[in-house]
Amino acid sequence: MEKRPLNIMLVEDDPDDIILTKRVIKRHNSNFNIDTATNVEECLNKLSKGVYSVVLLDYNLPKRNGLKILKDIRKEGYDIPVIMVTGQGDEMVAVESIKQGAQDYIIKSTNYLKILPGTISKVIEGYKLKKEKEKLEQRLIQSEKLAGIGTLASGIAHEINNPLQGICGSAEIIRDAEDIDITIKYAKDILKLSKRIATIIDKLSLYSRVVQKEEISLVKVNDMIEESLKLMKLSPYFTDIKLVKDCKASSMININPIEITQVFMNIIKNAVEAMNGTGRLTISTRDKERLTEVEIDDTGIGIKEDQINRIFEPFYTTKEPGKGTGLGLSVVHRIVERYGGMVEVKNKIGRGATFIVKLPMW
Ligand SMILES: Nc1ncnc2c1ncn2[C@@H]1O[C@H](COP(=O)(O)OP(=O)(O)OP(=O)(O)O)[C@@H](O)[C@H]1O
Ligand SMILES: [Mg+2]
Repeated sequence: MEKRPLNIMLVEDDPDDIILTKRVIKRHNSNFNIDTATNVEECLNKLSKGVYSVVLLDYNLPKRNGLKILKDIRKEGYDIPVIMVTGQGDEMVAVESIKQGAQDYIIKSTNYLKILPGTISKVIEGYKLKKEKEKLEQRLIQSEKLAGIGTLASGIAHEINNPLQGICGSAEIIRDAEDIDITIKYAKDILKLSKRIATIIDKLSLYSRVVQKEEISLVKVNDMIEESLKLMKLSPYFTDIKLVKDCKASSMININPIEITQVFMNIIKNAVEAMNGTGRLTISTRDKERLTEVEIDDTGIGIKEDQINRIFEPFYTTKEPGKGTGLGLSVVHRIVERYGGMVEVKNKIGRGATFIVKLPMW
């Protein structure tokens, strides 16, 4: 099969260099077509045709140097590999080019023309592979997202349908009832079931809400822990829990304070529930490189090996019917990821569980 020619854009103003480069590249690979541009306007104009596979960009151009042209190429959104060609002694430029989005650089030393064709082939091949990988990753993310939406939708339908059936049934009984006690009993059921639906909807709104810019502020992670504990301590479950704190973090995080307290409260609530009211809750915070880590450790029942992969799924719960919604940890996961952080869990069956929340420091 005949190979399609590859078009190379050479941005160079020195006529001798143009002739030499063309000759060397053509000799190395007759499949390479070389087109030239001597300034930024011509370069951008030709790139708009969308037929080039790589740009060979000379740094030493009179009006606009190669770095500025590179910026223009990226600003205009051209997704094309660029090789910066710099003079000897311009090594810093070479490094800067890579930072600015060039794929490679080549220094005009005595034998640079010898290595140029090889560099071009390597860059084109590497770029193609990178793009294919990105496409695959994108498809994977997309299908995971779709799967996630599917799970969520079927979960919502199921979780809301159950209490709804109960409400309908109770209402029918009340409609036909002649006894006031029966009416009161089933009215109470309706109230309980409606509250359950309200709880699910409340948690779901946390799951899917879009945070407004003005809701985000700089807060100390330790203050957020204190705030969460203050609210959690109001729970009757908390009375026999021994609380150990080792909060060494001093960093600030840029976050919605309500959401981050929700994150800590959901994890602490699970920990307290897993200890069934008695045990030790250890909360530690620390700064680690660019991340602030919060560790919440309990001495509860722990998480079984076959459950650990499922606990962040929406509606996954091991609690008695009607007790947990199974939305706590999926909300945690969702919020933390939205701020560029992550949640990890360490399994310690029989000795409890440890959750670690990592958030980028400000
Ligand atoms: N600290 C923990 N120890 C043991 N199991 C845990 C712990 N935290 C979470 N789990 C497990 O993960 C499951 C999912 O937790 P999640 O918070 O999402 O929902 P839930 O607690 O069941 O319901 P809700 O949060 O609405 O009360 C729990 O049912 C439990 O099985
Ligand atoms: Mg929970």
